[in-house]
Amino acid sequence: CGIVACSGESPVAPLLVEALERLEYRGYDSAGIAVPAVDGHVEALRSIERVDDLGRRAAGWAPAVSATTGLGHTRWATHGEVSVVNAHPHRDCSGRVAVVHNGVLEDVTELRRALTDAGHMIVSHTDSELIAHLIEEAMSEDTDLAGAVERVVGGLRGSWALVVLDARTDELVATCHGSPLVVAEGPEGVFAASDIGAIAPWVEWYHVLDDGDVVRLRAGLPWHRGGVPVAPPPAVACSVGVADLSLGLYPDFMAKEIEQQPDVAERLITTWSGSILHGLWPSFSLPVPRHVTVVGCGTSLNAGRVVADLLARLGSIPFAAVEASELTSTATVPGSLALVLSQSGETADVLTALDVLHGRGHAVVALTNNPHSALARRAEAVMMCHAGPEIGVAATKTFVAQVLGGTCVVLSLLGCSGAVEQQRAQRLVRDLDRVPDALAQAIGASRRTIPQVLEGLTKASGYVFLGRGPGRIYADEGALKLKELTYRWAESHAAGELKHGPLALVEHGTPVIVVDDGSARMHATIAEVSARGAEITSIGGHGTSVPALGSPLAVALDTTVDWLGPLASVVALQIIARELAVALGRDVDKPRNLAKSVTVE
Ligand code: G6P
Repeated sequence: CGIVACSGESPVAPLLVEALERLEYRGYDSAGIAVPAVDGHVEALRSIERVDDLGRRAAGWAPAVSATTGLGHTRWATHGEVSVVNAHPHRDCSGRVAVVHNGVLEDVTELRRALTDAGHMIVSHTDSELIAHLIEEAMSEDTDLAGAVERVVGGLRGSWALVVLDARTDELVATCHGSPLVVAEGPEGVFAASDIGAIAPWVEWYHVLDDGDVVRLRAGLPWHRGGVPVAPPPAVACSVGVADLSLGLYPDFMAKEIEQQPDVAERLITTWSGSILHGLWPSFSLPVPRHVTVVGCGTSLNAGRVVADLLARLGSIPFAAVEASELTSTATVPGSLALVLSQSGETADVLTALDVLHGRGHAVVALTNNPHSALARRAEAVMMCHAGPEIGVAATKTFVAQVLGGTCVVLSLLGCSGAVEQQRAQRLVRDLDRVPDALAQAIGASRRTIPQVLEGLTKASGYVFLGRGPGRIYADEGALKLKELTYRWAESHAAGELKHGPLALVEHGTPVIVVDDGSARMHATIAEVSARGAEITSIGGHGTSVPALGSPLAVALDTTVDWLGPLASVVALQIIARELAVALGRDVDKPRNLAKSVTVE
């Protein structure tokens, strides 16, 4: 979900809507804004359509004409179905207080019952509305909004990023616990947002709230921590540019982010290559691990598997990969180094896993795209991905950045510890320079070839992805992308496993997408599925793993860095998923039911 709030001098509604457009990738089940009306009551406008619908309606909305203070929210539904009544902002009974909330409260049934018994009329099925009523209660004893907010959150359990509006005083108060929130001052006013990208065009600096901080959104940002006034934490320069947040000439953000991958790779490699053999790993101050536990969700977990597989192949260090949501019930190897990957660094499952890992005594190396995230702040060591903002919900460039960032760590660990002899380590580091070109070639090859196989792919209702060795993880990632974007079933298997069951799925015309390592065993698998009428799309082949799409015998380009695995194949897999989704009329940037950053478990 996304939060924005602003207290300024000019009409606030257009700013709120514009910020919500930039936040929409964090959730798009519904959206709303609220402002104080002249009579001291909250006026709210909510929609279960997209933010542009909210914007159209806000343009002719009378309360928006004069209001200079307000808040807004875009929702990814957790408690309560998608409906206007469940859309944020939520109000108390008196209509004086409005809240926007990210996160999930615990003890909701008890809270709801207690409030109902006290005479509150709760109209939605959300946990968030309860906060508005709790603040209403608290304000009957303490008319100061910040004091009331502090008192209420002191008694809550769960997670929240919260902004509260008092329509009588036009005051806004922001606080958080386990869910991100930033505040900033600029010429347009004072802002709060769950994501700096929302307000980036209007501010140069921002401050990140720590759990428990309470901030009044007014000049000087009066800051409270632990109930006492404190100075705001050091300001952080806003590095997100307008170009990062706009489409330019691209049809969608996913297309833009796929295209950016060679540049992302180049930037990352240039940033780190000098320190790989001279200090990157030593700067973490961690012992050389005997075992690695990879933790993440979705695409980040796949990137982590690629990195750990590389460490196992080059350094003989074994690993286990665990979905973050499964960590509590999964045993870990004592003393194992945890490699935790999260683009956002704010995924709730990941943060819970982080607590579990720390509780079990594991040191954590984080690989993230967000230096101010909870993950980055709480990990023992951080490797930044430097991919820039990723707006498309389905991760693309951050996968490549995580794989390459992780590869730098792996090479540094092995080179600095002597596990890989210096000359070889230097050669491996030099090889990385070829990756940006390999990715660029993969984009070109995929753009030329995929349109030829697309028509066959659109007719199918299900897809089989196959890979072997390092290519297996890429097949998994390809199937994940296809499911996310097209809403069609896709299975991913180790090529050799196909004949032990999944082959029963294959019939005449079944699309089988192969991350082809050029091995005889892979070609035996291809022959088995071809014999049953499958339509093969081969990525790689002839002993290399660079995308050459089409028949199994397609000629591959020979520029991939072999020890790295078929990284360039991910480009083809992303483009297949995107092109198919576009052909099916799907919204590739905002797939149904998904959100970019899932801050609830
Ligand atoms: C969500 C997104 C996925 C993403 C996953 C992990 O489910 O829809 O695309 O891979 O979160 O996100 P993270 O920010 O932790 O990498």
